[in-house]
Amino acid sequence: MASDAIRLDGKVAVITGGAGGIGAATARLMAARGARVAIADIAIDAARTLAESLPDAIAVPLDLENEASIQAMMAAVADHYGRLDILHNNAALLGPDIAQQDGDIEHMGTALWDRTYAVNVRGTMIACRAALPHMRASKGNIVNTVSNLALQGHLIQAAYSSSKAAIIQMTRSIAASHGAQGVRCNAVAPGMTLTPALREAFSPLLRQAVEAETLRDRLGEPEDIAEAVAFLASDAARNITGQLLVADGGCASHVPGIAQFRAFFGEHV
Ligand SMILES: NC(=O)c1ccc[n+]([C@@H]2O[C@H](COP(=O)([O-])OP(=O)(O)OC[C@H]3O[C@@H](n4cnc5c(N)ncnc54)[C@H](O)[C@@H]3O)[C@@H](O)[C@H]2O)c1
Repeated sequence: MASDAIRLDGKVAVITGGAGGIGAATARLMAARGARVAIADIAIDAARTLAESLPDAIAVPLDLENEASIQAMMAAVADHYGRLDILHNNAALLGPDIAQQDGDIEHMGTALWDRTYAVNVRGTMIACRAALPHMRASKGNIVNTVSNLALQGHLIQAAYSSSKAAIIQMTRSIAASHGAQGVRCNAVAPGMTLTPALREAFSPLLRQAVEAETLRDRLGEPEDIAEAVAFLASDAARNITGQLLVADGGCASHVPGIAQFRAFFGEHV
């Protein structure tokens, strides 16, 4: 029964940003566990290619910045499958050009701030709102992907990190408002995860700095996050709602300065 409990047979899952990185890993894993997956992405060609490789999967165009696009995506999925059990809100405003503009707020353009909130917070809210009637019918659940950057202060990405913190609170609100209707809502916070895009953008120095703060022996892979998402989305997590599952190799769990402590005490810590 234990291993059966993490199967997703019969479930229909929408994964936003499902064409690449963590979303694609989640789409593959959920399909392998028996779910029918709708890959909703702005990169529609990549979404179609992935959908063609999975049983009973579809690709649906989505621009999370556009309310009509989100509603059309959700309607298309419900129309195609006749139900919706899982919404994985995974897409976000990302990329090296965005990250470069997103430092501390004194030096941040208002347009970058607004766009980050439009995609990450407003887009996630509209997707949840559009999904809720279907979720009520299926007693389904939502998994929102946030980031461990939402949990601590940092020198970088004030817009991104605060938008992800807003999604954590949105997760709790949805869980509180809709739990009695049988709907669960949780969040997963990855740390630095080695997606193809990040491998390309990661400077060796930055990678070293993150590795030094990781309590495991390696950085996270997209499949590690997919496992956490699939668990929360499954019936194995049926009594878990309104929670944040931090899947960052322990990065955000420890006191500051652990890298220096390691250097001081040597290999015995
Ligand atoms: N990779 C990491 O290190 C890391 C760390 C913490 C949190 N996260 C979070 O994990 C999630 C996935 O990140 P990733 O690294 O896999 O990203 P990625 O860039 O590899 O993939 C993101 C996907 O989202 C799609 N997308 C982008 N904008 C969109 C829009 N407006 N509408 C619809 N689709 C859109 C892209 O086409 C792409 O397929 C994000 O929410 C991100 O904030 C990632």
